Amino acid sequence: MTYKYKLEDVEGIGPATAEKLRAAGITTVEALAITPVRTLVEIADISEDKAAEITQNARNLLSIRFTTAKEVLSRRSNIGYITTGSKALDSLLGKGIETQAITEVIGEFGSGKTQLCHQLSVTVQLPIEKGGLSGKALYIDTEGTFRPERIVSIAKSYSLDPEKTLENIIYARAYNSDHQILLAEEATNLIPNENIRLIVVDSVISHFRSEYPGREVLAMRQQKLNKHLHQLSTIADIFNVAVVVTNQIQSAPDVFFGNPNKPAGGNILAHGSTYRLWLRKSKENRRIARIIDSPMHPESECIFAITSKGITDVEED
Ligand code: GTP
Ligand code: MG
Repeated sequence: MTYKYKLEDVEGIGPATAEKLRAAGITTVEALAITPVRTLVEIADISEDKAAEITQNARNLLSIRFTTAKEVLSRRSNIGYITTGSKALDSLLGKGIETQAITEVIGEFGSGKTQLCHQLSVTVQLPIEKGGLSGKALYIDTEGTFRPERIVSIAKSYSLDPEKTLENIIYARAYNSDHQILLAEEATNLIPNENIRLIVVDSVISHFRSEYPGREVLAMRQQKLNKHLHQLSTIADIFNVAVVVTNQIQSAPDVFFGNPNKPAGGNILAHGSTYRLWLRKSKENRRIARIIDSPMHPESECIFAITSKGITDVEED
């Protein structure tokens, strides 16, 4: 993806305003278009009227407005797909992990969520004919479980240069939920400059859960989480990137029949993500994936494997 416009191309932005915006970390028209007016006033030292005017003009410039169904269809024809490394899993998802969407990967510990995030950070770099998007990955790690060594072994299995593959993954450790939100904000400046086509947030919820425990703060937690997911979904849309987030399982003590486990994050995550992929452990290195809550997919399952080469199909024996 290349930059079409610079800040000065937006009506109402002269050199002085452009400088204020850049100093506040807003360096692209895209970032300006999706920054709330209130935030602009706070960070860029401009009046509310000015902020409202330039955000609107930035949106006009990028044609973020009402559009026809025909245009929506043409936008959707730009959707790209990233292979998971398993044909079975790709076809369960349709054609792989999609851009312009948030895919939520849910599962208990050891189910392979982080492995899948590593895998996609490599496969997004492959050329289109090999199942990638010739792009880079932005990896937001909240649990400190990113392992470059693992990237190296996955890269080798695709005959990619390990050094280059590592360089094409931009990594940030998020230390708390506010930091996580801030990193997603900064991503809007990075994405067009760096040709990023995948954003990983592993895990999207752990900081929110640990910082806001208990019922008294649940509303506040959900409000912040909602903001974060909204940010991510705007990014997926505007920049045509794939967003992959991981989520944990929580036990629902009030369930007496059926599965007592459910994804954490409640309705906010259920509604915020486009696709929900639930991973379960099976025997040895096998994992079962199921798509849940999807209006487009029937609730079917597939099996894949986690091997030293990364995620693969299960060898038929
Ligand atoms: P939590 O983050 O703890 O909730 O779990 P997770 O779902 O992120 O699990 P993760 O993706 O870290 O999966 C870990 C599992 O992947 C391990 O238990 C191993 O079974 C498997 N795994 C990781 N690395 C390798 C490897 O190099 N070779 C093989 N064969 N398996 C691996
Ligand atoms: Mg993990």
